[in-house]
Amino acid sequence: MSFQDELKKIFVEEKEIPEEFRISEIHQREYLVNGEMKQWDGPVSEVYSPVNIPTVDGLKRKLIGTYPLTTEKEAFEALNAALTAYDNGRGEWPTMRLDGRINCLTVFARKMTEQRALIVKLIMWEIGKSYADSVKEFDRTIEYINATIDALKEIDRSSSRFEIKEGTIAQIRRSPLGIVLCMGPFNYPLNETFTTLIPALLMGNTILFKPPKHGTLVHYPLLRAFMESFPKGVVNTIYGRGAAVIPGIMATGKINVLAFIGSSKVANDLRKHHPKLNRLRAVLSLDAKNTAIITQHADIPSAVNECILGALSYNGQRCTAIKILFVHRSIVHEFNAQLSASISKMKFGMPWEKGVQLTPVAEPGKPAYIREVLDDAIAHGAAVVNENGGVTNESFVFPAVVFPVNNKMKLYREEQFGPVIPVVPYDEIEETIDYLIESPHGQQVSIFSNNPDEVASLIDPLVNQVSRVNINSQCQRGPDVFPFTGRKDSAEGTLSVHDALRSFSIRSLVATKMNDTNKKLLEDIVNERSSDFLSTNFIF
Ligand code: G3H
Repeated sequence: MSFQDELKKIFVEEKEIPEEFRISEIHQREYLVNGEMKQWDGPVSEVYSPVNIPTVDGLKRKLIGTYPLTTEKEAFEALNAALTAYDNGRGEWPTMRLDGRINCLTVFARKMTEQRALIVKLIMWEIGKSYADSVKEFDRTIEYINATIDALKEIDRSSSRFEIKEGTIAQIRRSPLGIVLCMGPFNYPLNETFTTLIPALLMGNTILFKPPKHGTLVHYPLLRAFMESFPKGVVNTIYGRGAAVIPGIMATGKINVLAFIGSSKVANDLRKHHPKLNRLRAVLSLDAKNTAIITQHADIPSAVNECILGALSYNGQRCTAIKILFVHRSIVHEFNAQLSASISKMKFGMPWEKGVQLTPVAEPGKPAYIREVLDDAIAHGAAVVNENGGVTNESFVFPAVVFPVNNKMKLYREEQFGPVIPVVPYDEIEETIDYLIESPHGQQVSIFSNNPDEVASLIDPLVNQVSRVNINSQCQRGPDVFPFTGRKDSAEGTLSVHDALRSFSIRSLVATKMNDTNKKLLEDIVNERSSDFLSTNFIF
């Protein structure tokens, strides 16, 4: 079958979808606030999948359900519930012993696992992620929860002792910060949301949780699990348009932490509404335009493989995706040829197809945006150099390799977040370093070279431009125990299993002058176990 025929037939009728992957519409009419599933009979938002179905009127995005379009009133209801549950740090949750909180989270993880099949299916349908990657996203999240519990135990063990310095004895622990507003991205609606929500919860904060616009229904099967696993008001949901429901609650000044994964523009707009910025901690994962540098000493086939993984996994819709390639002029034509040949072999199709690598893109406006950046590049002297690059059928866009890209083009700076690979030829290595110095982004870079002197000469300047330098490997977040952060407009705060627990807490200490009276006082408190903070107990 020709490429054109294959592309035309990419979307199939419902009866052709294997039964185990079909989905029935889910109409959510509840939201979780103050430990109750409240009924909603107001307006709803329709959720359309990026997967189209052929109809007599042509291709139509499949409707997979609806969710409440709640208003500022319900957002305030959620805020008040979180404030009451926190009760200025005196509520049941922030004062609960760590083993109690861990037990609640363990119950939650068990209930979450019971919903695995439905959640995986919803990830697949709502954002068009392949079934295999949707399963990975779910399982990685459960692993993240377990690893977070282990990291917390580790922190607790090292905090369960007194320190004596310069005649002062102290016990230092981490305490919650208060009300955390968690907003995750569409591309990892479950995993990335939970990489902030779970550590924030475990540290004793109470949560306002707004699911991403695409990837909202994914969370519906978990509301009851939240309700049944945690005291009331500890986890509260907010639905509706972000611009309508979030500014008001930020303006109260009652949000203590903004945990946001998305664009730096939205993060800055939201933050501005808070009246006391010194009281707001921000944990942000933002824009990125990760760069790959392929030098004349690179192993071309292995660089091509890693760049394809880096640029096209989940169609390039990852904040960590490689979004621009600098290739040494002496090898660039060979590199482009091998890159194009490998792309032409990639399997495209529907998310449930076995081995599928390219699927429809999640955002409805993305195919038009991709056309716009391709036209802009062509107008400034570039071409799409791979066969069928940029060819589109509704929500599906075949990856485009664009060459030669220069600084006049949108693709040189804009984060395309989609299946487009801009290739810039370079002559001097200094040009690549200059690009990174001038870039507003600073998340990661990948260097491809087998020359140790050359790699070393790039590592030192680049570690001061970005937060992770990958050698002969694609850019990525994992392993989740490694620090994940960025410079400039790419992030604020550091996330890793361990660092996230620190980001959502603050150190508090109890200290006294070391004399006989105070020693006796501390001994009595510890022996009588009359304080949870001042205690040498720890969780095994
Ligand atoms: O979208 C950003 C994600 O954190 C990327 O994670 O590198 O594991 O795909 P990943």
